[in-house]
Amino acid sequence: MKGLVFCEFLEMVEKEFGYETVDHIIENTNLPSNGVYTSVGTYSHEEMFALVGQLSAKTNIPVSKLFYAYGEYVFGVFGNAYKELILGYENAFDFLCRVEDTIHVQVLKLYPEAELPRIEVKNRSDEFLELVYTSKRKMSDFAEGLIQGCMKYFNENASISKEFLSEDQSQVLFTIKK
Ligand code: HEM
Repeated sequence: MKGLVFCEFLEMVEKEFGYETVDHIIENTNLPSNGVYTSVGTYSHEEMFALVGQLSAKTNIPVSKLFYAYGEYVFGVFGNAYKELILGYENAFDFLCRVEDTIHVQVLKLYPEAELPRIEVKNRSDEFLELVYTSKRKMSDFAEGLIQGCMKYFNENASISKEFLSEDQSQVLFTIKK
């Protein structure tokens, strides 16, 4: 997982909980990187799970909620940092339908080592969109937060529901209803 994802995570923790919490979770987690991330470096996604687990222990907020909140937050960051990838889309559904074949393809050009999920479009109408998330990293809570962040970015309201298609949670169906 790219360092920028870690840097933005620690930035969010600092904004929400303060620098002491950042320090606490880094000091109390066994991290091969020692908690030193550069945005272009690559680190195991397990470090992210370890950091989020430690933050959960410290704040009593469930891991799933923290991943969701981080997804929502980071879409806003991407919205600024990768404006050119989002400009040109008129609405959230148009954008979400192009994550797999356009957005993440561009991401891979920028960061060839990026490990990305599959985001397949199953069904789409003006009112609802069904997306299937597949990834062995099992970060569907993060995906849900990114979807929510995307709806917000485009100033649209929708409810997002989630159904696990595999027991290990590596495949998840999202239904997004306006
Ligand atoms: C401008 C928009 C977006 C950009 C620039 C972007 C970029 C990225 C980057 C850099 C990573 C980390 C890869 C790595 O570190 O190895 C990532 C991972 C991920 N992206 Fe996107 N992304 C965008 C939109 C989305 C959206 C809308 C979704 C959800 C539908 C999504 C779902 C995910 C998930 C769930 C991961 C975590 C890895 C995994 O689950 O396997 N992304 N993305």
